[in-house]
Amino acid sequence: RTVYLNGAYLPEEEATVSIFDRGFVMGDAVYEVTSILGGKILEFEGHMNRLARSLSELEMTCDLSREQWIEIHRELIARNNIDEGLVYLQVSRGNAGDRDFHYPPAGTPPTVVLYTQAKTNLANDPKAKIGIKVISLPDLRWHRRDIKTVQLLYPSMAKMAAEAQGKNDAWFVEDGFVTEGSSNNTYIVKGNKIITRHLSHDILHGITRVSLLKYAAEAQMEIEERPYTIAEAQAADEAFFTSASAFVMPVVEVDGATIGSGKPGPVAARLREIYLEESL
Ligand code: PDD
Repeated sequence: RTVYLNGAYLPEEEATVSIFDRGFVMGDAVYEVTSILGGKILEFEGHMNRLARSLSELEMTCDLSREQWIEIHRELIARNNIDEGLVYLQVSRGNAGDRDFHYPPAGTPPTVVLYTQAKTNLANDPKAKIGIKVISLPDLRWHRRDIKTVQLLYPSMAKMAAEAQGKNDAWFVEDGFVTEGSSNNTYIVKGNKIITRHLSHDILHGITRVSLLKYAAEAQMEIEERPYTIAEAQAADEAFFTSASAFVMPVVEVDGATIGSGKPGPVAARLREIYLEESL
């Protein structure tokens, strides 16, 4: 595989980063994950806008232009012959020597890494046909979840805990209300109404979420942006989540309680179809 590191296209074995890099030592880095379907990049503008926001919230600078970002994406997709897959992009604050809590001096170059991951089952994910089972866990992450940092230890622990219980993923709960999934935004459906948590520092502002809500409104569905509890989710007609890599994924069980019929519901199935049609 050919990957991108700080201006160079390299074989992955040759792409190495300093042990002093703050991404490695401090988790001082932000990232984006973008899907590729039929060789086409999905939601590019949205991901680039969010990247710019994450960088600016952390006072990190990276002087690549929008044109350069698109060029790198296109180059990696072409060189690796990606028809279906993901592009992972990470920008860390780089390094200026020994470990130090202070940011390095202004002008220290960031470390920019991008690589592709080929996938064969994004659009035709068999899980979308049967639905996902989730457990709830307390949301123990920091309180700036709107910044897409690489501090993903708790989400990893949550996915491991879910799998240890024979389930697929976890929904996080804070002050009695669902915040979001371990790596996705969550929704419940009641009749013609889609309920999803409003945007704030408590959740990541999903790029897929923006499109999903637009398509749902165009399909005459009602949208309510507010927090909801696990009990309300368990009593809903349907549940689902969205992310760049899963698109729209039905959820059929929360903490052992079956949602609706226990099969992916018509609203989630329809929205997944619309999302894929619009993206392709
Ligand atoms: N995760 N919430 C969290 C905590 C996430 O990590 C993600 C994305 C989302 C959905 O955002 P988007 O629709 O922009 O992908 C919500 C990515 C896919 C990941 O970490 O792999």
